[in-house]
Amino acid sequence: MPNVVSIELEAQEVAWEFAPGRSIPGFAYNGEVPGPAIEANVGDTIEARLTNNLPEATMVHWHGIRLPAEMDGTGAVQRAVEPGETFTYRFVVPDAGTFWYHSHHNETEQIERGLYGPLIVRGADEPKLDRERVLLLDDLKLDVEGNVSPFGDSHEHHAGREGEIRLVNGRQEPELELAGGQIERWRIVNAANTKYVRLSIGGRPFSIIGTDGGLLSEPREATEVLVTPGERVELAVGPFDEGESVQIEGLPYDRGQGESEQEQFATVRVGATAPSRVTSSGSPSHIEPLANADSEPTRTIDMKALMHGGHAQRDDPVKVGELQIWELVNETGSDHPFHLHGFFFQVVEVDGEPPPVVSWEDTVNVPKKSRVRIAWLADNRPGQWMYHCHILEHHAMGMMAHFEVVP
Ligand code: C2O
Ligand code: CU
Repeated sequence: MPNVVSIELEAQEVAWEFAPGRSIPGFAYNGEVPGPAIEANVGDTIEARLTNNLPEATMVHWHGIRLPAEMDGTGAVQRAVEPGETFTYRFVVPDAGTFWYHSHHNETEQIERGLYGPLIVRGADEPKLDRERVLLLDDLKLDVEGNVSPFGDSHEHHAGREGEIRLVNGRQEPELELAGGQIERWRIVNAANTKYVRLSIGGRPFSIIGTDGGLLSEPREATEVLVTPGERVELAVGPFDEGESVQIEGLPYDRGQGESEQEQFATVRVGATAPSRVTSSGSPSHIEPLANADSEPTRTIDMKALMHGGHAQRDDPVKVGELQIWELVNETGSDHPFHLHGFFFQVVEVDGEPPPVVSWEDTVNVPKKSRVRIAWLADNRPGQWMYHCHILEHHAMGMMAHFEVVP
């Protein structure tokens, strides 16, 4: 039976203690960074009552949820929630997966200060692993005195905002304990403004079992996976041996700003061995491809023009039920994570090559000097929607467009 999952979300200022004895003036839902984990089953209704006790307006976007346009939490569909006001978001969650909610107002600052949290939706037939964790990756940019570095200098507009402090679940480089001999399900969210995470778990093999829009048809073995801002991956991790310690790290990556250093996010300490009850880490669900390599694009989106658009732009309407094949062309010298609100797409090809598996995504990296072709279908949810670069500073600068889904 579907339930109503009710939650109060109070956006407020908080002393965010990101490391023992070190805090910054943060913004948080219910006083915690990340905000409370919202958990539901497919078909449930989420009723989230936002009270804004911040000194500035805010809004909540439910990243990845196929909800009605009016609940999407953008300036195109609602008035910002002013200090002292409340607004209730109410929607059904139709898909299983790892999602997240975050501010969609002055977001370069509000998300950096901590206004984000996880939203987990479970299906009837979930893989049975030994334990589940949600890991929200983030970073924090501080100045030399340890204060939040001022927002919006011209370098940030262009390059985005990246900090030296790496966080997992709101804490700087924490230690995670896991039992030897077990296999865990890790739901990973990149909640950083700009930082790309080329994720490695001490170089050990893991299985990628899910992406933005839920489980893959079958697990894919890997030793690293690129997680751009906004994206999620689900991994089956382990087993490890008792007494081992492994680093969760970001490997060097060049998104167009030169190669980054290898960076540490957390340490995994492996405790005593415990029995494993893992039966399967996959799912029986098959993802049918929406399009093949010779499907002609119905629209081309020039990321360079978008980037220099300056102001909110408007793209052509999309008709319910009409297959969309969008060619995302990136002639800039930097990667951009393209995010589509409210709908999932499939990547058809990257520079002419099909991806290794068909998956459902709401955010995809468009590498510098590359083209990514995506396919999607608008189900019957007319209204105002948008897409944008999920490097928050680029979004703020105008790397976005609104469009209408029409019946
Ligand atoms: Cu997570 Cu409009 O974004
Ligand atoms: Cu961008």
